[in-house]
Amino acid sequence: TVFPDEHVASAKVAQRIADLIRSKQQRGEMAVLGLATGATPVGVYAELVRMHREEDLSFRNVITFNLDEYFPMQPTAAQSYVTFMNENLFDHIDIDRKNIHIPSGTLPQEEIHDFCLAYERKIEALGGLDLQILGIGRTGHIGFNEPGSAPNSGTRLVTLDDLTRRDASRDFGGKENVPTKAITMGIGTIFKAREIILMAWSGKKAPIIKKAVEGEMSGEVPATYLQLSDNVEFILDADAASEL
Ligand code: GLP
Repeated sequence: TVFPDEHVASAKVAQRIADLIRSKQQRGEMAVLGLATGATPVGVYAELVRMHREEDLSFRNVITFNLDEYFPMQPTAAQSYVTFMNENLFDHIDIDRKNIHIPSGTLPQEEIHDFCLAYERKIEALGGLDLQILGIGRTGHIGFNEPGSAPNSGTRLVTLDDLTRRDASRDFGGKENVPTKAITMGIGTIFKAREIILMAWSGKKAPIIKKAVEGEMSGEVPATYLQLSDNVEFILDADAASEL
């Protein structure tokens, strides 16, 4: 679905999330959301905060799982995804802190494997993700599933692509300061969501959107695996869709 600009598109995605939360509320159920970081979802989170303040949208029945976190990463660091989520969403809404899940950037090496398994199990125990939102990196990564990721991959520690670290270098004051690793939900984890929305804005994303939507499916561009799923919607602004 192509919208004229990212503001209209972000408002539509926020509305979909709000509708899901409210319909679950009416049934006395929890909404289980998969959340993303990066510049792309910022407008969606801002709109959800506005709806909380102005339209009584409550997040008391919301459980969240973030896609990824740099490794190693202190949660209090300015660049952590914990800080990002607090500043853009969690500090401004009424979500119960114990319902927030973000991969840990501070685990001892020997605990990473069990942590990742437990992350998967927690999602499964809640009946799976109702909705996963995604951005896309210029390598075609979703979450931090870089080229070479398997379609059935689970939550795990990964090595970041050089281009991904270069793209993040501004936030870290130089590529050499960007962590070389991250913990990310796998492609298989993302696939189990009942609904997936991938968002992309601006002409900078147009080449990778063309590859993801029209390119041959391949591990070289992990987002092409989304072609396998019937539950995926790409929500784009006109510039990101300009090469389709
Ligand atoms: C990071 C995140 C991804 C995100 C991507 C694109 O790599 N781990 O989840 O989709 O950046 O970022 P942006 O939205 O800033 O373009």
